[in-house]
Amino acid sequence: MMPPGYFITFEGIDGSGKTTQLQMAEKFLADNGRSTLVLREPGSTPISEKIRDLLLNPGLKINPVSELMLYLAARAELVAQVIAPAIDNGRIVLCDRFHDSTTAYQGYGRGIEVALVSRLNELAIGKYKPHLTFLIDVDYRTSLTRRKTATDRLEAENHEFFDRVRQGFLQIARNEPDRVIVINGNRTPVEIFIEVKDCLSRKMNII
Ligand code: TMP
Repeated sequence: MMPPGYFITFEGIDGSGKTTQLQMAEKFLADNGRSTLVLREPGSTPISEKIRDLLLNPGLKINPVSELMLYLAARAELVAQVIAPAIDNGRIVLCDRFHDSTTAYQGYGRGIEVALVSRLNELAIGKYKPHLTFLIDVDYRTSLTRRKTATDRLEAENHEFFDRVRQGFLQIARNEPDRVIVINGNRTPVEIFIEVKDCLSRKMNII
């Protein structure tokens, strides 16, 4: 059975501007009387935040399989502790990244078999799949200018890696066009949000 709440995720490569869009979306929904909950991945539980510290520490080199499993562990924890109860209580959950990031970064980016990553994602999230996903799509040059720092480990990755990740996200959107809305992120936040807001209004019956 579909849980009663509504689950929205924001995806894109580093520097896509997805976090700004999430914040604008949250304000729009809250201003329209909706009960919202904002989360980020990896993170948003005590254990998941500790896993985040490990994963994003530029001083630690990690094996791709261990990396995959740590992202999944952080996600399983977040779903069980926070997302499941929130959705079951009818809240609108907005999450900055979710399972598509693992498919795009660890699958398409690092080269771990995508079908296997999808199965493992299913294990971590169970029935709590996003109802709606905004993919904020930007080219590499735009993403570079938006990244404030290149200090965390992933953000120091190269151009080819981010191209694979970007193409991975676009493939996910082609596979699931009803769930994943691709938004051209090579514009100002206000211009991008017009499209995000339009879609939210339709899905959430906001006039
Ligand atoms: P953030 O910069 O959006 O907070 O994301 C943290 C980094 O973690 C970002 O470089 C993408 C990466 N990431 C993965 O590689 N796989 C995942 O499953 C998630 C959630 C994030």
